[in-house]
Amino acid sequence: MRGVLALTGAMVAGSALAVSALPAGAAPGGQAPSITKEPFGTLPDGTKVDRYTLTSGQGVRVRILTYGGIVQMLESPDQHGRSTNVVLGFATLKDYVDKNGGPYFGALIGRYANRIAQGRFTLDGKTYQLAVNNGPNSLHGGLKGFNTKVWKARPVKTDGGVGLRLAYTSADGEENYPGTLTTTVTYTLTRGNELRVGYHATTDKATVVNLTNHSYFNLAGEGTGDTYGHRMQINASRYTPVDDTLIPTGRLAPVKGTPFDFTRPHAIGERIRANDPQLLIGHGYDHNFVIDQDRPGRLTKAARVTEPGSGRVLEVSTTEPGIQFYSGNFLDGSLIGTSGRAYRQGDGFALETQHYPDSPNHPSFPSTVLRPGQTFDSTTVYAFSTVSTQSRPSGLAWRLAR
Ligand code: GLA
Repeated sequence: MRGVLALTGAMVAGSALAVSALPAGAAPGGQAPSITKEPFGTLPDGTKVDRYTLTSGQGVRVRILTYGGIVQMLESPDQHGRSTNVVLGFATLKDYVDKNGGPYFGALIGRYANRIAQGRFTLDGKTYQLAVNNGPNSLHGGLKGFNTKVWKARPVKTDGGVGLRLAYTSADGEENYPGTLTTTVTYTLTRGNELRVGYHATTDKATVVNLTNHSYFNLAGEGTGDTYGHRMQINASRYTPVDDTLIPTGRLAPVKGTPFDFTRPHAIGERIRANDPQLLIGHGYDHNFVIDQDRPGRLTKAARVTEPGSGRVLEVSTTEPGIQFYSGNFLDGSLIGTSGRAYRQGDGFALETQHYPDSPNHPSFPSTVLRPGQTFDSTTVYAFSTVSTQSRPSGLAWRLAR
């Protein structure tokens, strides 16, 4: 990449031309947070797509596309300060357009993240039929979900970081969902190396909404192989078992005594091939965990993942009641990722913060109904840090630092 124009964190709001040059390949550590913009490509219909680069000044750099609000790259330092890209993705806009319909790498998902059984729900006595795009069900917003939209973007001022606000208005009836849904998603990168994602939506008719981001992580580095050695901890004593089309049965089942118990850290691969009917259905983990929240709607720690080789740690906190842990089961080696390597099963995992799948058909689940006059507000924080895993006295097994 050639040198690009940089706006420093303090300047971004309302002073579009207060710029300074960021040298190509500049080390991100120790600088002021910054945000830059460059063209990323043109869609077949002529729409231009931009890529924004947010730098924390403390080692983390994230690249976000206006197409799908996609987190295209996220570079984070290891325990020795060496940065690498830790999210799965593609190098070109064409690949995102042609190939991201299956995996949803890095994308914003709406209007309804996850599945709705038979693509059908009834709201205030009226039944809505959505496109069925995943077996018998509707998945991730239908045929042209938020992951395919070009969002209006503008840098925003934030406390101690840099922000990018994306806006998209989904017309009444789009993908057969009722109501005009006015949506903004704000990505903020803080000096503390946290990527905060704030979702906000309003409607002019009663509707259902469930928004998330579908990033896949590999904390050893994108394209380096499977993530089964990552140690996963999920703050959930229950999960929602599914039928054989991945629709929740409605039961909130205890994880205790099952391969779904991540209340203490376990390697992702440790039990993934256990003879458990739920793991067989999902070809691995592809399940919603019920986060142990003290109070609904409060930002709560949902998951913590550590990669023993690099010492990288990802912590996910959210105001949402659920988190889908998807262990990349359907990656089959046919997609070539950002750095030119094929992605095979398990080469990345997603942690999709959300309301439970198929909530519109489960009155006992927390409601996903949004009515005129109400606002949908939700926050998820991905915090990047490291632990030291390699300087322990020899003979002592490395253990998760907690
Ligand atoms: C979600 C689903 C998975 C799969 C991925 C995308 O995580 O739950 O079943 O469809 O999206 O491949």
